[in-house]
Amino acid sequence: MTTAEERWGEVDRYVGGLLAPEDDALRAALEASHAAGLPTIQITATQGMLLHLIARMIGARTILEIGTLGGYSTIWMARALPPGGRLVSLELNPKHAEVARANVARAGLDPVVEIRVGPALDTLRTLAAEKRGPFDLVFVDADKETIPEYLERALALTRTGSVIVVDNVVRDGKVLDASGADPSVRGVRRGFELLAANPRVAATVVQTVGAKGYDGFAIARVTADA
Ligand code: SAH
Ligand code: DHB
Ligand code: MG
Repeated sequence: MTTAEERWGEVDRYVGGLLAPEDDALRAALEASHAAGLPTIQITATQGMLLHLIARMIGARTILEIGTLGGYSTIWMARALPPGGRLVSLELNPKHAEVARANVARAGLDPVVEIRVGPALDTLRTLAAEKRGPFDLVFVDADKETIPEYLERALALTRTGSVIVVDNVVRDGKVLDASGADPSVRGVRRGFELLAANPRVAATVVQTVGAKGYDGFAIARVTADA
């Protein structure tokens, strides 16, 4: 007997093996992350390919990532950039950043990827002060409590046509809990409310199942300049 969840994982590995196969650099990134004791919470290969395709579909030349971990999602997205493209990834944990830098270098993406260590809210302020951006694609995947603030700052660093993707917004359906007890769920729900109320974005949520269980992405298009 296979459970539904086992089947989600099997299908993910089946289609991922065909359409989103991991090469040596991606496999090595996962191995090095595991060896360094990083949590195994990175996106799946099929999700990495989705982010890669979104970046290609919009012709992204600049990408901002909030939450690097070992750089697995970073590598998938950075590979979508044209020559001269840039990806900036923000990470709080210096050890995660160190592992990610090595993984990114091994993938040959050193010249493309800049990993900035510190609380992402601070770095986002710095990026704005440095007049960085606008970013064509933003991937929000750090602590979930702060999603509303990340969205506000991401919106300040984007332009008409930019796309913002937020990971982990369904959380096994826990997103339905309106009690406010779970800080991550509260962050996700406030993020949705912010997207709903902001005239500068059109957004939806795609629920996902796969090797990482049941979760989802919020996907937003920026419809007016900051
Ligand atoms: N995007 C990665 C997974 C990120 S996991 C991938 O799919 O491959 C979430 C990461 O966000 C962790 O590495 C965690 O250390 C980092 N993080 C948590 N709080 C943060 C903060 N306030 N600022 C920046 N990064 C943070
Ligand atoms: C967690 C964070 C993530 O970004 C994710 O994709 C899965 C789990 C976590 O903090 O548990
Ligand atoms: Mg995530």
